[in-house]
Amino acid sequence: MAVKPHPQQINVKPCATWSVRCGVHYLIIAGFITVVLALVLAAFRAGGSGDGSASRDHCGGGVSFEPLGEEGGGCDWFDGKWVFDEESYPLYREEECSFMSDQLACEKFGRSDLSYRNWRWQPRRCDLPRFNGTGLLERLRNKRLVYVGDSLNRGQWVSMVCLVEKSIPAGLKSMRTNGSLITFTAIGYNATIEFYWAPLLVESNSDDPVNHRIPERIVRVQAIEKHARHWTGAHVLVFDTYLWWLRPEMKVLWGSFENPDGGIFKDVEMTRAYELAMQTWANWLELHIDPFKTLLFFVSMSPTHQRSSSSHFTFPFLKFVYNDMCIDFNVYQICRAEDWDGKPGQNCYNETGLISKEGYWGSGSDTRLMQIVQGTIAALKRRGLNVQMLNITQLSEYRKEAHPSVYRKQWEPLTEDQVSNPSSYADCIHWCLPGVPDVWNEILSAYILLSGTQ
Ligand SMILES: *[C@@H]1O[C@H](CO)[C@@H](O)[C@H](O)[C@H]1NC(C)=O
Ligand SMILES: *[C@@H]1O[C@H](CO)[C@@H](O)[C@H](O)[C@H]1NC(C)=O
Ligand SMILES: *[C@@H]1O[C@H](CO)[C@@H](O)[C@H](O)[C@H]1NC(C)=O
Ligand SMILES: *[C@@H]1O[C@H](CO)[C@@H](O)[C@H](O)[C@H]1NC(C)=O
Ligand SMILES: *[C@@H]1O[C@H](CO)[C@@H](O)[C@H](O)[C@H]1NC(C)=O
Repeated sequence: MAVKPHPQQINVKPCATWSVRCGVHYLIIAGFITVVLALVLAAFRAGGSGDGSASRDHCGGGVSFEPLGEEGGGCDWFDGKWVFDEESYPLYREEECSFMSDQLACEKFGRSDLSYRNWRWQPRRCDLPRFNGTGLLERLRNKRLVYVGDSLNRGQWVSMVCLVEKSIPAGLKSMRTNGSLITFTAIGYNATIEFYWAPLLVESNSDDPVNHRIPERIVRVQAIEKHARHWTGAHVLVFDTYLWWLRPEMKVLWGSFENPDGGIFKDVEMTRAYELAMQTWANWLELHIDPFKTLLFFVSMSPTHQRSSSSHFTFPFLKFVYNDMCIDFNVYQICRAEDWDGKPGQNCYNETGLISKEGYWGSGSDTRLMQIVQGTIAALKRRGLNVQMLNITQLSEYRKEAHPSVYRKQWEPLTEDQVSNPSSYADCIHWCLPGVPDVWNEILSAYILLSGTQ
């Protein structure tokens, strides 16, 4: 299946320079044989085989996703504001979604202020195309859309299933879990929308979809193959990884989990470890992804509106179960109500309004990690592979009222202390559905439909 770029919407940029992606063979051969031979090879490759698939002539770098703007103006879908819109939102009803997660079903678990469902994201200089479930499913016919990452990405996956579900007749959809992979199938379309659990993308000791409550996190920053084989061949890949990294240091293992005695363990400063992992991810993509078959996305960090704490460092505070999966987060308690002029020590609990300060950025969103992602994506682009960042951090920052807070299933009975202090167990990380992740998916869907994927 080849992606046919739509002439008006997609820029196919010919390689101006010999990119690394195209140059790998060149370099190797040049190193081993002679420059002359390599130049012959280069000339051969640059000339293309003339087989009509324009792709190779463009160095594999071809499809870039540019949002449609006003005439010539261009438009940033991630730059805009929230508009209260009771007419068009929500895009689905919570109880209509057969595969809703009890972690995200805020209405079901007692939330009475339901205004979080009614906000539309309005880009500054253009409109987002309206979500069209049938249109998206048509585009995904005979294809796999796979979300890979942590529970934020899983929430976005649930949102996508809810969004398209209305367009699928009963009896023509199925859900199946196999280890770390959950597959929703739109049978009539032979299309799957899948979620693969890999909270750090690379291998870690938190990879078990059920038991990842491990006090000390260990990560193999150079190893991704074990996960990647499950999403090899997908047509749309949507990655995220952020929250699980938020510790001062990560224990990095060079060696295997099966044979830890033969390995080397080292505590590595977190941003450095993150960078190494992102490089591993990028290298895998570069070697295995055909840019004319697969669309790539990376979801930027999802902001938290978490409580403040005198303890700066990590401690376990949240435990979530989704279906048969149980997740335990250890994250900094860094995003404080003080960030948005709330009561000191408070978090998203009891919040019903948006943050109105333009450009608000919470202290829980670590720009260093965002820059690492941007750098990694830019390097991939130079090598001919485009990853579109779903840059949802800023737009989601405003939504302090849209988290489940206390309105979700409690998997263990609450203690008296918790009952008397609800903010102590409020979930200010994930998002109620219908809600914010629907907007992320509207943007994702718009990109997919724009891409001209056949
Ligand atoms: C949604 O997409 C389908 C299939 O491409 C198309 O037939 C239909 O007109 C679209 N609906 C809207 C409201 O644009
Ligand atoms: C169904 O989709 C898969 C990709 O997910 C593809 O490999 C297969 O050929 C499709 N089946 C048919 C009958 O087109
Ligand atoms: C589950 O996935 C494994 C690969 O990880 C595969 O070998 C196996 O057939 C799958 N089981 C089912 C029931 O699909
Ligand atoms: C929750 O908010 C309401 C209205 O703003 C306020 O009256 C109430 O005291 C708050 N409850 C707590 C526990 O902060
Ligand atoms: C993402 O958004 C942030 C702020 O909203 C901005 O600083 C950054 O440059 C954007 N990144 C990309 C790749 O567009």
